[in-house]
Amino acid sequence: MQTDHKDPATIQTNRNMMAHPSQGGAHPLSAGPTNPQPYQDAYSGFTEYVLSINRPQYPSANEMYLKEQLRSLIDVEIVQRIQPSARVIPFGSLVNGFATANSDLDLCILDDSPNPRYKIKTELPEVLAAEFERYGFEVKLLTKTRIPIIKLVQGPTAQFPLGLAMDIGFENRLALHNTRLLATYSRIDSRLREMVLFVKHWAKVRGINSSYHGTLSSYGYVLTILHFLINVASPSCLPNLQHIGAQVPVPFEELECEGYNIWFFKDLTNIPPSLNRRSIGELMAEYFSYYAQFDFRNMVISIRTPGGLLTKTSKGWTQALDRVGPEDQKVRSRNFLCIEDPFEITHNVGRTVGKNGLYDIRGEYMRASKLTRARDPRVFRALCEQR
Ligand code: UTP
Ligand code: MG
Repeated sequence: MQTDHKDPATIQTNRNMMAHPSQGGAHPLSAGPTNPQPYQDAYSGFTEYVLSINRPQYPSANEMYLKEQLRSLIDVEIVQRIQPSARVIPFGSLVNGFATANSDLDLCILDDSPNPRYKIKTELPEVLAAEFERYGFEVKLLTKTRIPIIKLVQGPTAQFPLGLAMDIGFENRLALHNTRLLATYSRIDSRLREMVLFVKHWAKVRGINSSYHGTLSSYGYVLTILHFLINVASPSCLPNLQHIGAQVPVPFEELECEGYNIWFFKDLTNIPPSLNRRSIGELMAEYFSYYAQFDFRNMVISIRTPGGLLTKTSKGWTQALDRVGPEDQKVRSRNFLCIEDPFEITHNVGRTVGKNGLYDIRGEYMRASKLTRARDPRVFRALCEQR
């Protein structure tokens, strides 16, 4: 029997880490809508429906606080004890503003030391996986992925009654930058967040939101919505932040990461509000109708590109491609559905979508477009029926 087993739920928390929301402290990770506006139109009923689906999914300030505490504990008590030069940074939906209640916790381990105790991409994942097991987490170490990932599952606890899933990636620096890009977009127009929450819910209940099962990740859906709001909605709801030049000299770290251009415009005070006054309901209906007719066979969604589209031919993404990843692992891009990552432009975010996955995704966009066009609450309620 293990004597040094620690249940994560019983780890003592450091109370000085940050103010609890009930003590009036705003949580640094909680990003909420910035400019809620009353948009009135023929789609008011659908807007109300979208919000009625979203409201119960907003994560509470307390949940955000507890997740941040857990991140800090993993950082200080587990990772830095094993590897003092490493640190644990949150990314994904908890930081970009698109988290829902019970969404997973995406963490990234970085290490800038020239002489780390364990090699960050090879030795450290194994050592930490064993350590997490001692702490009572259910652990799966994935090494054949683009970057090593530790998947942790914590069963139900008093703090997280539904349990908690965590993905810990190693040296995934570009993900920190794309999280910042999404966070910046989410602060420009509050309709983006509502659309993302709704599409995530719809995709989940309709069974088309799993990169592990041949469909599309949440991140992929967010990029489809950004393309729609930047390039398709007219007038556009969002500017292309990667196409606004810097007004002052910027340090190299803001321009390049791992050989990719990571520049985007961050000064929100210099971004005028959109002239597009459409309601969330109308934008959602337009979004579904756009993707119901989208030419997935030939086109690549590319939010960094003016116009938002490239051809598969121009990217060389016309067939399945295998390439060798940085750790000699095989990375397969199926290229049925192509979404170019905004920074890592050699990466197809939709690479996991298989032939059947694409068939299902198209079918769901077509179904959604038809149901939302009805503008009848009795009809569009079927949109989010479990499949
Ligand atoms: P997720 O798809 O888990 O998105 O990717 P999410 O916003 O956290 O959604 P939920 O709440 O879990 O459903 C998490 C992060 O991983 C990076 C992005 O930074 C994304 O925000 N990511 C994901 C990539 O960089 N590339 C990918 O292909 C997928
Ligand atoms: Mg996530």
